[in-house]
Amino acid sequence: MKSTQYLARQPDANGLIHYPEQEHRVWNTLITRQLEVIQNRACQEYLDGIEQLALPLDRIPQLGEINRVLASTTGWQVAQVPTLIPFQMFFELLSRKQFPAATFIRTAAELDYLQEPDIFHELFGHCPLLTNPWFAEFTHTYGKLGLKATKEQRVYLARLYWLTIEFGLLDTPAGLRIYGGGILSSPKETLYALSNEPEHQPFDPLEAMRTPYRIDILQPLYFVLPQLKHLFELAQQDIMPLVQQAMQLGLHAPKFPTRAA
Ligand SMILES: [Fe+2]
Repeated sequence: MKSTQYLARQPDANGLIHYPEQEHRVWNTLITRQLEVIQNRACQEYLDGIEQLALPLDRIPQLGEINRVLASTTGWQVAQVPTLIPFQMFFELLSRKQFPAATFIRTAAELDYLQEPDIFHELFGHCPLLTNPWFAEFTHTYGKLGLKATKEQRVYLARLYWLTIEFGLLDTPAGLRIYGGGILSSPKETLYALSNEPEHQPFDPLEAMRTPYRIDILQPLYFVLPQLKHLFELAQQDIMPLVQQAMQLGLHAPKFPTRAA
């Protein structure tokens, strides 16, 4: 696990988390800006989820508020976790339909760019689509597969997660739209992902598993799904033989500059 300067805030005896005023202001800045940016860029299923969640603008929401909506739509929950958690715990939570969220928010100095997933990323980026049964089913399946997978298989599964749940795009009659939470919680990447700068390829799970990524740069390549329901259909397929196939074929050459050793 990597180190972090952040600490997750702990709930009081009533399960409520108290954030200082300046942290609510960071939330307000992030959500106000991002709600504008995602118009005509996020996919409809995500926007439907935003409407259902009705996230407050003036304060960081309590997880209980989110959980009431998730419980009534797909049965998912958000689980409060420490800042960084081991892979094993991540898969265990997903396999129980619990999406981990660390209860801290980035500082005003790191408003635009943050490697650690904070509460804005988890709640704004991921929770809207967790109200969608297709997306929820795929995330659940991913958790169950990851739990049983070996360390090496997990690395390949992680690429599938990265290029769908975090950085996936959707083809729609209105044009390319975003469903990946890593993109939708970043104003810069929301604009960049739909521009002509990166490469866009039709989604192929085997190709996604073979595509190396870096978490500290804008993605050079995005995979485009024909429709969100495709994730549900993928979840019904046997994914592990694809993992084995990807392991045999190996990784593609990275489309980004590799760091100096
Ligand atoms: Fe994420």
